Amino acid sequence: MKEIKKIGVLTGGGDCPGLNAVIRAVTKAAIIEYGCEVIGFQDGFKGMVENSYMPLDLKAVSGIGHTGGTILGSSNRDDPFNFHRIVNGQTESSDESDRAIANLNNLGVDALIVIGGDGSLHIADHFYRKGVKLVGVPKTIDNDLMATDVTFGFNTAVNTASEALDRLHTTAESHHRVMILEVMGRYAGWISLHAGISGGADVILIPEIPFNLEYIINKIHQRYEQNKKFSIIVVAEGAIPAGGEMVVQKLVPNSHDPVRLGGVGNKLAQEIEDISAIETRVTVLGHLQRGGMPIPYDRIISSRYGVAAVHAVMDGKFGSMVSLRGANIETVPIVEAIKDLKKVDPEGELVGTARAMGISFGDR
Ligand code: F6P
Repeated sequence: MKEIKKIGVLTGGGDCPGLNAVIRAVTKAAIIEYGCEVIGFQDGFKGMVENSYMPLDLKAVSGIGHTGGTILGSSNRDDPFNFHRIVNGQTESSDESDRAIANLNNLGVDALIVIGGDGSLHIADHFYRKGVKLVGVPKTIDNDLMATDVTFGFNTAVNTASEALDRLHTTAESHHRVMILEVMGRYAGWISLHAGISGGADVILIPEIPFNLEYIINKIHQRYEQNKKFSIIVVAEGAIPAGGEMVVQKLVPNSHDPVRLGGVGNKLAQEIEDISAIETRVTVLGHLQRGGMPIPYDRIISSRYGVAAVHAVMDGKFGSMVSLRGANIETVPIVEAIKDLKKVDPEGELVGTARAMGISFGDR
């Protein structure tokens, strides 16, 4: 097998806390353990197509492990296999994957590390099938990737959402209000479920368990009768009323998944006020869940993933993704990670734990 002397790294898709810690770990391990050269493509796969990159040495990654964002930039719109550009005011699209591969070859990049979620790892898989030697690192606040116990960034998002619930609690209690916190997570309810349990929510709504307004109102009234004149609801952006549909905020045409969810919190608040006459307020946490410093858990898992990705490259485990299984970091085929979205099990232990503590999922 050809010796690996130069590694390219990129961060694709929506950013999340811990990206810089992975970039740092990849660069350090590649240089310190293997004497390898590292370059970082800018703005995800776009940088590969447009040959835009920066050298990564120990100085470039010094002091970034605790920082938010990505020093490389990211994009959740630029798929080289369906690459969009504006020509004379019109959007044109073409397959630029060969150009991206030619750029890799001209730069002498022997292997690529793709730090990304579902969309970026789908693209990575296409490149792998075209012969690019690459390894994936599972990123997303949504925690919806199969074949890994956890994606980095998720726990920081839960931390942010949980802290928001703590803050909402005190003001909810002062004003005897219903407070709704809308969190991200796309089609999976991981953030809502974890933050809801941690932050002491009274109602947790997730896409995996369709809700019924009547049950939510019952829960609020029940608490009222117990002299608890406030209620806290955490709702995942993808939560669905029974027999209804997700609330779509907008469509982003050039994205792997063009649907952007959002708005269910406000819709629900209006319905609760209309029926119960209890004052209801909404906080949409939005991109605060993606920005800022990673918590120590994510700094550590990101470092482990980054180092493991370099080892996987050196061991020739191409087409794989590093993954956490129990206490261990392993490698799994990328196809295993992207074959479906990892969703909350409505019958699982975590949902059971919440139910046992009296938390309502709005379904009974
Ligand atoms: O996948 C991460 C995520 O933050 C989702 O939770 C959310 O639905 C989406 O990305 C938002 O995307 P954008 O950054 O394009 O608004």
